[in-house]
Order: sequence, then C-alpha cells, then structure tokens
Amino acid sequence: TQARITLDRDFTIGPVPRRLFGSFVEHMGRCVYTGIYEPGHPQADAQGYRRDVLELVKEMGPTVVRYPGGNFVSGYRWEDGVGPREDRPVRIDGAWHSIETNAFGLHEFVDWAKLADVEVMEAVNLGTRGVEEARSLVEYANHPSGTYWSDLRRKNGAEDPFDIKLWCLGNELDGPWQIGHKTADEYGRLAQETAKAMRLVDPSIELVAVGSSNRQMPTFGSWEHSVLTHTYSEVEYISMHAYYQEHAGDAASFLAEAVDMDEFIDGVISTIDAVKAAGKHKNQVDISFDEWNVWYQRGLETEDQPHKVAAGWKPYPRLIEDAYNVTDAVVVGTFLNSLLRHGDRVTIANQAQLVNVIAPIRSEEGGPAWRQSSFWPFARMAALASGQILRLAVDSGKVPTAKFGDVDAVDAAATWDAERGTIAVFLANRSLEESAEVELDLRGLAADRITRAEVLTIPAGGDRLTANTEDNQDAVGLTRLESVGIEDGKVRATLPKLSWAVVEIA
Ligand code: AHR
Repeated sequence: TQARITLDRDFTIGPVPRRLFGSFVEHMGRCVYTGIYEPGHPQADAQGYRRDVLELVKEMGPTVVRYPGGNFVSGYRWEDGVGPREDRPVRIDGAWHSIETNAFGLHEFVDWAKLADVEVMEAVNLGTRGVEEARSLVEYANHPSGTYWSDLRRKNGAEDPFDIKLWCLGNELDGPWQIGHKTADEYGRLAQETAKAMRLVDPSIELVAVGSSNRQMPTFGSWEHSVLTHTYSEVEYISMHAYYQEHAGDAASFLAEAVDMDEFIDGVISTIDAVKAAGKHKNQVDISFDEWNVWYQRGLETEDQPHKVAAGWKPYPRLIEDAYNVTDAVVVGTFLNSLLRHGDRVTIANQAQLVNVIAPIRSEEGGPAWRQSSFWPFARMAALASGQILRLAVDSGKVPTAKFGDVDAVDAAATWDAERGTIAVFLANRSLEESAEVELDLRGLAADRITRAEVLTIPAGGDRLTANTEDNQDAVGLTRLESVGIEDGKVRATLPKLSWAVVEIA
C-alpha cells in the first residue's frame, strides 16, 4: 500500500484543545478501589493513593478526568462521600450491583487530581436527584466560605474552594438502563433548570448536556435536537459516547471504525448547527466526547456482572477488565486521530476509563500495575500533539471492509507547533496484510530533522491478538520506527502491516 499525505502551514483546523486528552474515573469495578486508591498496598502513600498507578497516569498524561460516573452517578448522593470516613454510609450501587463503602469521595478525588496534575470534570446526578442537590454541590465545591455548604467543605478539611470549572449535567439519561432514565423533553427541561441554578452559584462554570449514549440509540438525533432546543443558551457542550469492538473476527471492519466515529461526530455537529440556526443563537456549543474506547465487556459474563443479583453484593467486583491487544491499540490510535481531526468542534474527550475498567492501565490488588497496549497511542498523542491541528490531504491506498466498503489503509492526523518548531504526525496502517509506504509532503513547513519515530505493531513471536498481561507486561509497546527518512521537505516512512506510529519532525 502507498499513501501520500500533504501538510501545509496554511491549512489548519484550529488549536489543539488540551482537554481532548481526557480520561474517566468511575466508581465502577476496580477503577477507584484497588485502582487509583488502595490503602495498605505496599505502594500506597499516606492517603492511600497507589504511587505506582499514579506514576503511570502521569506518564500517560491525561489533562482532565471525569468523575464519579458514568451510570454510577445516576444513583449517587455526593454527600455520602464527604466528611469523616467513619460517618460515611455504606450503600448499594444499583448501577453496578456493588457495595459502595464511600471510603473514597469528592475530597479524595480532588486531592488525587492535584497529585496527578489533571483537571476535575465533575458529574452531577440527574437520575434520582435534581436542581437542589446539583446547586448544593457547586456551592460546596466552589464557594469560598461563609455559607452552609462552603463552610461544611472547610470543616471537612478543604479551606480553599476546589474551583471545579467543568460539570456534566448527568449521564446517559437517554438509556433505558440508566437509573432515572428520561425522555428528551424531561431531561432537556431538567438540564436547563439545573444549569441555570448551578450557574447562579458560580457563573464561571462550564456545563455539558447529555447527548446520546451511542449512535445506535433509537433516539439518536432527535435526542440531541430536543435537548439542545431546551438547553442551547445554558450549556457549553453536548456529550457523545461510543464504544467499539471486533465482531466475529471481522478485524478489517473493526480497524475502520474511526469512519463510524467521524460520521457520528459530523452528525452531532449538524444537529448543533441546526439548533443554533433555528434559535438564532450566537454562542457555539462544542462536543464533549466524554466516553470513548474499545470494549469487549469481558468480565460481565462472570458472576460479577451487575444483573446477576444472586451472586451477592460485594465492593469493587471485577467488571469489564478487558485486555487490549495490538489490533485494539491501532484502533485506539485511529480514534484519537478522529478526535484530533475534529478538534475545532470536539474540544473535550475522555477515554473510558483510566484504571482496570476498560482501561489503558491495569493494577492488581496488593500486586503490580502495568500499561496496556492502548496506553501508548494516548500517551504519545497527549505529549506531542500541540500548536495547530493541520488539515491534511490524504491520498491512500484502500483496504476492503465488510462494514464500510473500501477505506483508507493509512489513517492520519497531524499538528504543527510554530513555537516549538515541531510537526507531529500520527499514523495508522490498517492493513492486516501489507506494509504501507507513506510519503509526507511538508510543503512550506520548515523541517529537516526527524526527532522521534516510534511504532507499535505485532511483536516478534506474537500475533495481532498479543496483549500485555501481569506476567508479560511489556509484550506490546513502542519500538523505534527504523524505516524513516527526510529529504527535500519530504518524509518517507514504511509502516509495518497493522501498526500505529508517531513521527515528529523539527
Ligand atoms: O464506562 C462504562 C459505562 O459505560 C459508563 O458507566 C456508562 O456511562 C457507559 O454506558
């Protein structure tokens, strides 16, 4: 396969939104408990945060982390998670059929976020609760002092406000599985009034209205239209969620799912623009793609699955602890490309989730922590995508797929940082059979050195399903991309079949 990609300093999409490299910590399975937090673990610090996990999180480099759910938040009382631990109630978590001890709550998350150097994105419960509890939480978190809720925060040990800017108005309320599922009009009105009340407490906050749980939802499109018709003037973002998996061994279609992601995003943009035009609005609502990933929901077929009520109730069961292989990592790389290509409209995105639950980082209770294959495309893009997103002209050979017809074998996204003097190009070769000869034409971009060239592909002795495990933690990772060179403003690289690569030029 061959691909020719033209980069031009005059063809830009917009600045790289730093919040595009977000992640998600839900009270689900072992994301919080035995994930980021495990008092008694040999690596735990004085507050119970796992240092080994924290180091991996910092290395991966998420910029913003959504909390505390997910489906969990739709039945959550945030007050249960603040105040002296011994007074915090133990509750049933209906969403994940788990016991929630509330040993970890808002203060613990805010403290952890400081250590991890990430922004907090906080979701309020609009499933079982409403305007009052949401505005109380904003007052608790963000009001300086001298009121009931702000003084309670100070009494609970946090003198300074948390100053949380980014708030989700609930989670997946279009889904029949959601506790407190609503129609679009019911949700739209509630979101509108909740947004107004929250902003009356702190006018500086940014708000995310709930969009569709996935593109297949029967209400997709009409949900966004109704919700935005109610909320357009009150919110900064509407959310998108999407999870993809390989079906029945059809790896070719799976590798092309970023085509679906592109189309899904374009569809939501159209709806936003339609509501904006009809309502004669001046403000621009952006997209917060606040749950995306590959998932297989492995672990939900075990006795821990939420609907197996007979299996009993326990804290932090093993839920969806998917192991990601080479193919999954390449697909994750193409999803990151899709998000970056839409960075003028998708300005927040959160990979779901951060640790153990469908996560790039895994940990065992009392045991080690390690990187999954999917860690690498995220870590490199979070570190190297900066400056302006470039609008690429891609002329690529095709690969056939059952689901999408012929698609580009080579998927690409790139950024140009004039200050740093660097160009970062993120490439995936979707072909399962052939390597790809890629030529990057740099046009007017002055660059003559390759400062980084790395590739993730099938390791020696492995296959496309090879994954990192507790016993073999580095089976899949980055190696140097050897076959790359630059001459007369053109970069030429050979991408192995089924690979993800990053090339940085200065
Ligand atoms: O991330 C796992 C779950 O997927 C979230 O709780 C929910 O919002 C989505 O359905």
